[in-house]
This record gives sequence, C-alpha cells and structure tokens, in this order.
Amino acid sequence: MIKIGSLDISLEHRQVLLDGQPVRLGSRAFDILVLLIAADGKLVSRDEIMRHVWPNTVVEENNLQVHIHAIRRAFGAERERIRTEPGRGYRLILVANRQNHPIQGGREGAVNPDALPVAHQRLPAGVPSLIGRDDALTEIARLLCDSQCLTLIGVGGIGKTRLAIEVAHRVQGDFSDGVVFVPFASIDDSQSAFDAFARATGTRLSPGSEALAQVGREWSGREALIVLDNCEQVLDVAAAITEVLINAGSGMRVLATSLEAMRVRDEITYTVPPLALPTDDEITVVWHSEAVQFFVACARALGANFPSDEHSIRLVGEVCRRLDGIPLALELAAMRASVLGIGGLAANLDDRFGVLTGGRRSAPPRHQTLKATLDWSYRLLDDVERKVLRWLGMFVSSFTLETACLLVEGAGVSRTQAFEAISGLVSRSLLSVDPEGPRHRYRMLETTRAYALQQLDDSGERATAASTHAVLVED
Ligand SMILES: Nc1ncnc2c1ncn2[C@@H]1O[C@H](COP(=O)(O)OP(=O)(O)OP(=O)(O)O)[C@@H](O)[C@H]1O
Ligand SMILES: [Mg+2]
Repeated sequence: MIKIGSLDISLEHRQVLLDGQPVRLGSRAFDILVLLIAADGKLVSRDEIMRHVWPNTVVEENNLQVHIHAIRRAFGAERERIRTEPGRGYRLILVANRQNHPIQGGREGAVNPDALPVAHQRLPAGVPSLIGRDDALTEIARLLCDSQCLTLIGVGGIGKTRLAIEVAHRVQGDFSDGVVFVPFASIDDSQSAFDAFARATGTRLSPGSEALAQVGREWSGREALIVLDNCEQVLDVAAAITEVLINAGSGMRVLATSLEAMRVRDEITYTVPPLALPTDDEITVVWHSEAVQFFVACARALGANFPSDEHSIRLVGEVCRRLDGIPLALELAAMRASVLGIGGLAANLDDRFGVLTGGRRSAPPRHQTLKATLDWSYRLLDDVERKVLRWLGMFVSSFTLETACLLVEGAGVSRTQAFEAISGLVSRSLLSVDPEGPRHRYRMLETTRAYALQQLDDSGERATAASTHAVLVED
C-alpha cells in the first residue's frame, strides 16, 4: 500500500482509499495514476501518458483531460496533488509542506514520512527473523558499495532470497527512490518476466523490445535498489533488465539471487555459504554454531519443547553436518524432529529424501521437500551435465578433473564435454572447488551426492558406474 497524505493506494488491488474509504476510479484513470506515482514527483509528459495508456492508438487529447479530472475527483480534498503544467504534462505532488497545506513540489519539499517515494514498502512481508549471517551481511553490504550489480548465488535453499530481503531492508534508507522486490521464481518465460517486473515497479510495459527502452527511461537518473529474485529460469531477461537498470544511472543498484551468475557487465557474485557448522565437538561450540541455533529456533517455532541435554545437542550438531548447514534442509529436518524426536531423525537420515518432506504450507512447491529443491536445479541442467552429475556421485570424497574425466568416459562423455559439464556444475554450486596448489579438487555436498546416486539408480546406470569407478580406484 502506498500512502500519500490521506490517500492509500494499492497497486496490487488497483484500489484507492481516501481516509480509509474506497473511491471509484476507472481503469484508464488508474493506469495514469500509476504512471504519475512511478514518476515520483517528476513531470510526466502528455505524450508519455498517451504512449503508456493508449499504446498503438491515436486518441483525442481531451480524453486524457477527462481521466485527469476523474483522478482529481477521486482525490477529494487531496485534489491539488495532481498538478497540471500547461502545455507540458502532469505531476503528482507527493510531499506536503510543514504546515500541511498547500502542497509543494516533488523532492524539494520537506520530507514527510507519509510521502515516501514510490519504490518504498515493496519488500515481502512476514518473513521469519533472520538467524546468524552477520558476516554475510557485512560482506554483501560492502560488495553493493563496490558494484552496481551483485548476484547472490548458491544451491537451492541455502538462503539467498532471505539474505537479499534482509539486505534490502537494511539499506533502503540509502536510496532516495527506495527498493523494489521482483519475484521471478514462478516464472519461466520472457513476457511473464517483464510483466512481473512491471507489476513490482507499478508500471506498464509495452510488449517486445520497447519494454527495455521504457525501463531505461523510467529509471533514468534515479536512486533505487532493485532486487531480482530467483533469476535462474529467466536469466536472459533478468540480465537484459539488469544491464538497462545499471545503465540508467550511477544511483541504481541491482541485487539478484540466482542458482548461477547472470554474466552481465560489472556483475560481482557472492556465493552464499552454508550456515556455519560446529567447528569441534565441545558442547558450547556445538550449541553456539549458526546451524545448530537455526535448527533449534525452527524446532521451537513449531512449539516443540526441544530438549537441551548434551546428547540431544550433539545429535543436532550431527544432523546439521550431514545436511551441510543448508537452511531449507534444516527447516524440514526440524519439522520432522518434532514428530520423530532428534534421535529418530538422526537414525533415519540415510533416507534423507524420504524423511525430509512436508514443508510449510506457505512455502513454494520447490521448498516442500528436499528432493523438490534438488529437482529444481537438476531440471535446469542439460543432458550431459545431468549424466556427469550422476556419475560423479560415485566419488565418496574429493576428486581431480583427471579422475572425473576418466570416470565419465565410461558413460560415453568425451573430455571436452566433461570440461564443459564440470564448469556448468561448478557455476551452479552443484560441485565445489578446493584449490590445492596448481590442481583443483572438486567435491559435492552430501545432499547433492545422495541425489546424484538416487538419479543413478533411477536411470539404471548404477552398476556400470560402480564397475568403472572400481577399476579406476584399483589403478
Ligand atoms: N539466516 C536465516 N534465518 C532464518 N531463516 C532463514 C535463513 N536462511 C534461510 N532461511 C529460511 O530458509 C528457507 C530457504 O531460504 P531461501 O528461500 O532464502 O533459499 P534460496 O537460496 O533463495 O532458495 P532457492 O534457490 O530455492 O530460491 C526459507 O524458508 C528462509 O526463510
Ligand atoms: Mg530464492
């Protein structure tokens, strides 16, 4: 809800309330109002309004005046907020002066908390409190100062979106045009991605290539942080929008979350690490580690009377390690522990995909089960990358590029294909790299490996992969 004086305007529900009471406003008039709001106190020319509201149609100018009149009528005592600039266009005055009457223009006026610039207040509400992540927040804030485009990458469920929301909350006061959150997770085609962007920013975008030019014009010279969330399915559009936004002026920043980098100019990536695991078995160390604190907080949020004896805490530490400190896996585990007990959960973790199901009702489908989270990443791989991931699951610990190539040769994958596929898996955090002298070693998180092995079983390749691996190990 955007608040301007005694008006409350919901872009989502396309509704205007005056002193809490809904007022009637036609659809075209509302479109014009959205444009004026998006301009954030700046002048919007008559041509611009015509282009947005009646694209590809020639209309009489007095049509526009009729709708402006309708907005003024709906605004009642706030009607003076719609200013006509003769021969030029219209402006919505957001800021009232200190005496609260008459209204004065745009940003030059006294700052009135009722009249925050348009992009404020658009972050998702009702997210659970953040646990830990102090280091990550400091690092992300620093990187955002250094670059106009920062992408948080990392495996599914590692906490990219949660961190981006937190950062946006913390820095929104630094941006005079506020922050906007654009959710892309449920979208997998270009047009819907542009629509999502338009909805989140409260604008209308023409179809096709004109949309990008329009985004550039609308954000030109502004100071805002745009969060593009879960870009992995619409990387091309997200990258194109990002380029345009950062070219719109040095005050613009894009914070993206994605399973892999967008690969746009000046992009910096930050790989979100797992929640910190206990560094040794000493009970206070285990208890104070980020991952254990997270697990216990999730368990307590469910109303469970979580035991705090030493044995239980050690078991939580073990569960956190086996689940690689991934928040989503720990959330699901805490839910299960409320029924099975921490001992029952730990004893059944070999079947992690069978046990870690039944996520929160409000969570998206890919967060309902641990397997769904992995399926989401697997779906985005090409056939060779999938095969290489499955076969690399045979390695219990870390391995070199050379051994990986030898193993997947048994699956008919050439060296060149293996190089490509391994790069693809690294860029999506499905393999991590341990630099060791001139040679790198690669490894998988335990959950990724368990998933790879399950896929190997499902594809009927397990026996061949195992015998190829056995020969390799003997040599
Ligand atoms: N530090 C944290 N404190 C509290 N909750 C967290 C934290 N990190 C993650 N979560 C919770 O864990 C779950 C997964 O996190 P999130 O959605 O941010 O992951 P993601 O990396 O964006 O996943 P995906 O790639 O599937 O979009 C969410 O319910 C989120 O609220
Ligand atoms: Mg996310």
